[in-house]
Amino acid sequence: MRIFFKVNGQAVETEGSAVSRLSSFLRDVLGLTGVKEGCCEGECGACTVLLDGRPVNSCLVLTFQAAGREVITVEGLGGSGDLQNAFLQTGAVQCGYCAPGILMAAEGLLRAIPNPVEAEIRHALAGNICRCTGFETIVQAVAAHAA
Ligand code: FES
Repeated sequence: MRIFFKVNGQAVETEGSAVSRLSSFLRDVLGLTGVKEGCCEGECGACTVLLDGRPVNSCLVLTFQAAGREVITVEGLGGSGDLQNAFLQTGAVQCGYCAPGILMAAEGLLRAIPNPVEAEIRHALAGNICRCTGFETIVQAVAAHAA
């Protein structure tokens, strides 16, 4: 089955990889290693990407399910880096493994709700696990960027 979709604005075509995990396809075929694989069962959020603008755990999406759709990974957030800078300013990144997934979850939130309240930020990030930061600085970073 040959499928076509977009990743970070670029047209992508694949056939043999259509039944692989989307996270694996993005990392192993396209080299987008900002997409992290932690649990590979939808628990950690490290693999979060935007699919048609909404955050999804790409480890739970088969590549063919992206057919005709648009995927954005952390590499596709663009050069301005405002959200990333907010994370750096507040010290919201320590080991960094969870950061790409959290950034994508936050990006999805901010696209849907440009000025979220704290409870909305916490709800949006509830599926993303961070073992280092304690989450407070992450919430502060998203709130600072939204302000
Ligand atoms: Fe996808 Fe953990 S690797 S949720």
